[in-house]
Amino acid sequence: MEQPPSITSPEGRVGVLLPGLGAVATTVVAGVEAVRQGLAEPFGSLTQMNTLRLGKRTDARTPLIRDFVGLAGLEQLVFGAWDPIPDDAYASAVNAGVLDPTRHLEPIRDFLASVVPMAAVFDTAYVKRLDGPNCKSGANKMELAEALRDDIRRFLADNACNRAVMIWCGSTEVFQRAGPAHATVESFEQAMLDNDPEIAPSMIYAYAAIMEGVPYANGAPNLSADVPALEALARERAVPIAGKDFKTGQTLMKTILAPGLKARMLGVNGWFSTNILGNRDGAVLDDPASFKTKEESKLGVLDYILQPDMYPQLYGDIYHKVRINYYPPRGDDKEGWDNLDIFGWLGYPMQIKVDFLCRDSILAAPIVLDLALFLDLAGRAGLGGIQEWLSFYFKSPQTPEGLYPEHDLFIQHWKLKNTLRWLAGEEQITHLGREYYG
Ligand SMILES: NC(=O)c1ccc[n+]([C@@H]2O[C@H](COP(=O)([O-])OP(=O)(O)OC[C@H]3O[C@@H](n4cnc5c(N)ncnc54)[C@H](O)[C@@H]3O)[C@@H](O)[C@H]2O)c1
Repeated sequence: MEQPPSITSPEGRVGVLLPGLGAVATTVVAGVEAVRQGLAEPFGSLTQMNTLRLGKRTDARTPLIRDFVGLAGLEQLVFGAWDPIPDDAYASAVNAGVLDPTRHLEPIRDFLASVVPMAAVFDTAYVKRLDGPNCKSGANKMELAEALRDDIRRFLADNACNRAVMIWCGSTEVFQRAGPAHATVESFEQAMLDNDPEIAPSMIYAYAAIMEGVPYANGAPNLSADVPALEALARERAVPIAGKDFKTGQTLMKTILAPGLKARMLGVNGWFSTNILGNRDGAVLDDPASFKTKEESKLGVLDYILQPDMYPQLYGDIYHKVRINYYPPRGDDKEGWDNLDIFGWLGYPMQIKVDFLCRDSILAAPIVLDLALFLDLAGRAGLGGIQEWLSFYFKSPQTPEGLYPEHDLFIQHWKLKNTLRWLAGEEQITHLGREYYG
């Protein structure tokens, strides 16, 4: 097996830079501060709560992940953001309506008010349902990237950080396929100079981050760093990247249920998923071009898990439909319904109904925290390019061209933990278990 890399010390302040200071971003910023002040617990976060087994089951070695691999502590994190809407993190969190103002926002009001978004690289052509005055201007997209790079350097200096990570928590941009402008670093840089519409704002942030040696992850389904040019740049500069689209609500359920049905060789001929959602993200996704980006991200999941080509009798004729309906009264408290038409022995039909009354940003916030700490670890370990071991956190995991993504949550979880074992020079766990039986 490939030798594990040496990893530099986790000490020092780490900037967590968030393009997009909306519901998800404010929930993670407020949540980390609430945990730091002892007001709440970081449920849902592997880096804060999960243990990891080392060696044999009889060895009783199960340290906390964060102690075992040496992650930065919450007290080391410093938050920064960009947003076209100038609201500070307090005002934005109140507007998002995710966290209880009395219990979780008022006690840390001053801290939240100190997180003020920097001027964004934003263009309504890519997010049609939003606008805001807090934007940068520049002669071309390369100039905008330079301005973001200045922001990063200034943020690090002003906050005495010795490194940073960037996680896109901005809105879902309109649907785009990778084209010639995204093919190579040269074509990408030329396209930025030419103000080519193929270069979306999220790509400019990703470019700026990689150029500054800042690991980058994309929490939305738009391409962003998932283009050959930026992947090559990330490899060249040994900067970790990961994406796309945080795996929360309905897709989380799908990637829990589908592997179970497949493991038992139960057939599926219909999976209808619908959501009602009333937050700003829901309003953005009400635009068909942004919804298309989300739909592609949500639809891919079942094909990869169920492998209809390999099991045509079980999954070859599946009707899979996903809907998101903007419904303001619910705010961030989404409701996702799934109806599964399945069949078993001799083809007898059965149905499963799931009604998940979830809180989108509550599910997404620990993902952002874990990604920040694991990307920082990957950066300190010198791992450049796509970090597929972080696909556990994504609906639409980024992989190199020609390699299909793993969507099964349990395979992803195993991969993540085995990567941590490898990084720490520990044995991989195969679950073969012959050693317990002489
Ligand atoms: N909440 C979840 O569970 C979840 C799950 C998966 C993916 N996501 C994605 O995460 C993103 C954030 O979700 P949210 O609920 O916080 O949405 P939100 O609308 O509350 O916040 C997004 C913020 O991004 C800002 N923004 C848009 N374009 C920007 C740009 N170019 N630069 C800087 N800021 C920009 C918007 O002004 C807004 O404040 C969305 O793309 C969403 O689809 C969320």
